[in-house]
Amino acid sequence: MKTYICRVCGHIAFDQAPVDCPVCKMPIENFENVPEAIKKPSDPENLTEDDKVHMPVVRISRECHAISHNGCIDVHIKVGAIEHEMTSEHFINFIDIYVDKIYIMRALLTPKRAHPLISLCLNVTSGSLAIISNCNVHGNWITKLKLDET
Ligand SMILES: [Fe+2]
Repeated sequence: MKTYICRVCGHIAFDQAPVDCPVCKMPIENFENVPEAIKKPSDPENLTEDDKVHMPVVRISRECHAISHNGCIDVHIKVGAIEHEMTSEHFINFIDIYVDKIYIMRALLTPKRAHPLISLCLNVTSGSLAIISNCNVHGNWITKLKLDET
């Protein structure tokens, strides 16, 4: 899977660069194909402390608590299994959400004030969910899951 990164806002696009960045609206010229844009655990069976601190932990609730609608889910995201710090020097900058590789939204977090976690309601019940967390020091980390299996 190819990854393209926006050099203006850090947004990552999968497979191909978009005409305009869906986050900062800058044109395609600002995207660069960066194969190592997302960090991968060297051993997925034995996560290091660095992996555990940065990889988003995702919990899905099929019972939507936001609006009475059958076609949506609650998504709870925390970075990470060991909670990441949120100091001025070292913090989770943003969390980007994708469904079927298509960008849905960004949560921009403020150090010291925000925890590295968000809850949201998505108007989907199937497909693949991908969450990217961006640490200002340690880069981008991803968690993927299939909604059909949750
Ligand atoms: Fe970090």
